[in-house]
Amino acid sequence: MSSYVRRKTPGDTEWFVHDRFGMFIHWGLYALPARHEWVKNREMIPDEKYDLYFKHFDPDMFDAKEWARRAKEAGMKYAVLTTKHHEGFCMFDTAYTDYKVTNTPAGRDLVREYVDAFRAEGLKVGFYYSLLDWHHPDFTIDSRHPLRNAPNIEELDRGKDMHRYAEYMRNQVRELLTNYGKIDIIWFDFSYPEKGKDAWESEKLIELVRSLQPHIIVDNRTGIEQDIWTPEQYQPTHWLTHPETGEYLTWEACQTFSGSWGYYRDETSWKSPEQLIKMLITNVSLGGNLLMNVGPTSRGYFDDRAVAALNEYGKWMKYNNRSIYGCTMAEPDLLPTVPKSCRYTQSEDGKRLYIHIFDYPFRFLEISGLAGKVEYAQFLHDGSEIKFTEGKVDHFSQGRTEDETMVVFDLPVVKPNVIVPVIEVFLK
Ligand code: GLC
Repeated sequence: MSSYVRRKTPGDTEWFVHDRFGMFIHWGLYALPARHEWVKNREMIPDEKYDLYFKHFDPDMFDAKEWARRAKEAGMKYAVLTTKHHEGFCMFDTAYTDYKVTNTPAGRDLVREYVDAFRAEGLKVGFYYSLLDWHHPDFTIDSRHPLRNAPNIEELDRGKDMHRYAEYMRNQVRELLTNYGKIDIIWFDFSYPEKGKDAWESEKLIELVRSLQPHIIVDNRTGIEQDIWTPEQYQPTHWLTHPETGEYLTWEACQTFSGSWGYYRDETSWKSPEQLIKMLITNVSLGGNLLMNVGPTSRGYFDDRAVAALNEYGKWMKYNNRSIYGCTMAEPDLLPTVPKSCRYTQSEDGKRLYIHIFDYPFRFLEISGLAGKVEYAQFLHDGSEIKFTEGKVDHFSQGRTEDETMVVFDLPVVKPNVIVPVIEVFLK
């Protein structure tokens, strides 16, 4: 068994740390302008103008089953969909606002279709729910609001009541956690200096969540610690630990293919397949998960750049998922042996070590400190034996490496056709 003990979480995170890889989906009205999900804020678009997107939201090509199939084929085990983003638009049929999908040309509850389809594929189902709301009549204007530069903020804010807004959120969360069966994750977003757990009334909100679905995983962005910590758009370099107790945390980094979360037509900073695969491996090698985002088009499909990226995951995961599912950071005694060119993961039962070769060497992978531990080694993708020697290696003509603790893996000269090859080591 892995010797790493995680800080206790109120919800059920056992499946989560096994599954490791999920799909984030940012979908809403911002898919129409197609220039970032914060477009209303960035361009300070007033409601009247933003309403055009509401009027024209018509995802005629949306097929939840296809999304679910693509997620599964990519090796993802769970998903988190935006039920409401900061723009305030609801992708589900709610009784508490008219600003919802059923009143657009879409005319149906898209959250329901998502839930049904993903569940049918055996994937766990999560909801993202924005704490910010740039449409709700009680949400006060702050520095992150589209109307932050309005000359008459005081007047615009007159009569607003954030308590009423907090109650609105609870009402909607009750709908989301009552009308769609078992939900595995609720992902609230986010707190900032002007508005945090007091404004959101996070205690009450979480109490409600737990009373409806006690097992559910809740993120920490309400301002109250719950189950998961969510580093965003950067690569953690160590297993996240609790700032006070130092305990290992349950964490999930969220990342984008191209920089924005919502569909962004003209964005060109798409990550390479290699970067994408390495991100997943690196997270697991540090005891974390990866939630990788897709921003579907307003017509409801994943565009070909997103499909290509998902396919890269699929190709790699098909043959290498054993080094991801049920794996975590390598045991402390193995960590000092990780070569710079590699990342380790280890199976929960401790029996298998996975060496991910980030920088493929010529013929020999030499790892100091592994001698005596290896029973058998093979490439993970094709189960072909990797021969190895221990203690020393005699290279032709005076290239002798002498290190009693060293294992030298004998690799083919030509790198196998796998973005990141993995050596599966059966430990003694
Ligand atoms: C941010 C952004 C947001 C995105 C989220 C995902 O906080 O506000 O647009 O949904 O991160 O983690």
